Amino acid sequence: MHDGQAAGEFVFFDFEPDHGDIAAEVLAGLSSQPKRISPKYFYDARGSALFEQITELDEYYPTRTEMALFDAHLGEIAERVGDHVCLIEYGSGSSKKIRKVLQSITPLAYVPIDISLEHLRANAWALHQDFPHVNVYPVCADITQSFELPDATADLTRVGFFPGSSIGNFEPTEAQRFLHTVHQTLGSGASLIIGVDRKKPVEILERAYNDADGVTAEFNLNLLRHLNERLGADFQVEQFSHDARYNETLGCVQMFLKSEQRQQVNIAGQSVSFAAGEELHTENSYKYHPHEFKALAKAAGFSVDLEWTDERDYFSLYLLTAD
Ligand code: TRP
Repeated sequence: MHDGQAAGEFVFFDFEPDHGDIAAEVLAGLSSQPKRISPKYFYDARGSALFEQITELDEYYPTRTEMALFDAHLGEIAERVGDHVCLIEYGSGSSKKIRKVLQSITPLAYVPIDISLEHLRANAWALHQDFPHVNVYPVCADITQSFELPDATADLTRVGFFPGSSIGNFEPTEAQRFLHTVHQTLGSGASLIIGVDRKKPVEILERAYNDADGVTAEFNLNLLRHLNERLGADFQVEQFSHDARYNETLGCVQMFLKSEQRQQVNIAGQSVSFAAGEELHTENSYKYHPHEFKALAKAAGFSVDLEWTDERDYFSLYLLTAD
């Protein structure tokens, strides 16, 4: 290389995650009471593009608030984690965030983990082109399962990265189990950079999930379009409407698709009935007070090393250490 640094390697690890029987899983959700469908079906190509649009909406504060926290504090995080870092990204998501992190932490190795092989390969390869000195070891795996990190990273300081308050999309018990699994993978002494959305007045939360332009509604409804394509279902998308409301008791924003009329939907050879007004639950987005999140992290074996929030106390960024 012209500046004397060695070229990084690119080695892809496919752990062949089990995708299960999609039709059976969707039908099981539709026959439960209340009906539900896993949020993982949001993210086909159109869904991912719509989510990108959501992150730019005035109403959707989490992404820009977290980005500002990165701008303000990644320097301090970089200093704290040192010079021999392997950065492990849980879910290879928005490339804007990881680019910021790669620029300030300058790890020797980067391990993006994602269940979607094509998505992972494309994102990881693009980053390899733009950060040619970094060793890139993409791992195709289910982030909720434990696995061995590539051997080449064994002597490096492990730093996990889990942004976007994705932790809030797990039920709290699953969130704790997930963090425990991350602890097992990263090992004692490792760090975890994690972004967590906070509890705040209900109007602000509900506005973030019910934008004026209806992008969020399109995103939620896209799940039905995706199932139509993927499973040959015949959801009449215009006969459903988006709803998102904050559940004070649970402490989460809950996303629903409401059937506007009584209707039958054919899906994978079965017929499913919806009553007029019946709701299909698509996602929960839990919000954590700092004391709640810290208790969760502690229960999973992590201590808080550093923590930051924005001037409105909307979003928190934590640097955790695995005990
Ligand atoms: N993970 C995002 C969140 O919890 C997902 C999301 C944003 C979402 N807006 C949505 C999910 C609207 C369903 C509907 O903030």
